[in-house]
Amino acid sequence: PAASAAPGPRPAVDVIAHRGSSGAAPENTLAAVKLAIAHRSDVVENDIQRTKDGELVIMHDTTLARTTDVEQVFPDRAPWNVRDFTLAEIKRLDAGAWFASEFKGERVPTLAEWVNAVGRQAGMLLEPKAPELYPGIETDLDKELRSLPVFDHALRSGRVVVQSFNHPWLRAYKDLAPDVPVGLLFSNKPTEADIAAAATWAQQVNPALGPIDQATVDQVHARGLEIHVWTVNAGQDMRRAIGWKVDGVITNYPQVLRDILQRG
Ligand code: G3P
Ligand code: CA
Repeated sequence: PAASAAPGPRPAVDVIAHRGSSGAAPENTLAAVKLAIAHRSDVVENDIQRTKDGELVIMHDTTLARTTDVEQVFPDRAPWNVRDFTLAEIKRLDAGAWFASEFKGERVPTLAEWVNAVGRQAGMLLEPKAPELYPGIETDLDKELRSLPVFDHALRSGRVVVQSFNHPWLRAYKDLAPDVPVGLLFSNKPTEADIAAAATWAQQVNPALGPIDQATVDQVHARGLEIHVWTVNAGQDMRRAIGWKVDGVITNYPQVLRDILQRG
């Protein structure tokens, strides 16, 4: 469901591909986006960071080490922080072979490449990662997104949300971009007070599935917010979240979730 401030009847659960269809393709690559769409995801999630020369790229970790061959290509550049490499340097890296040889040659996408790859085929759940490491990234993000016609269309269609664990940063971004729906990420169980505070300026409360329960879901809905849970990879956990009537389930296996939703 699109973000909405109004409580009321809620349509089916959104299938949200975590870092793309990252159970079947290397996370946060265009191959993972393509598979997410082939797996009939409603929304594709990503992670965003900034290069040394100010470009926004799709990467989960703050270092390039786990998901690229940076240690081989630049052996003397430890600890391989994203922010210490230019976009041209990052584009030399292989972001697919670590996952499976068939994905050799995948590159780290820019935000613009990622948004254009999703296009009109799915919604977008954007997560600037560790924004405290990148002063002013809220302005860069806003400028970059608004330069993309595909983003404009997604925004007008209610198919974009920006989420973050860094709640003060997210508030600053929301002040800059009040028309963009935002979601607060929680690793722990959000309290009633957290949810009440979120309702004054955000549209979603997005906790880990583990610590929450039916009451959490009901509290979020009672405040007129949506709740999208992560990262739900086991079928029994998907069924539990669906039974609680969450609005979205974020998973590495969107094809499994889609199958469960269709078969009941
Ligand atoms: O979408 C929520 C989830 O992505 C948060 O955790 O570490 O995978 O970014 P992480
Ligand atoms: Ca994420």
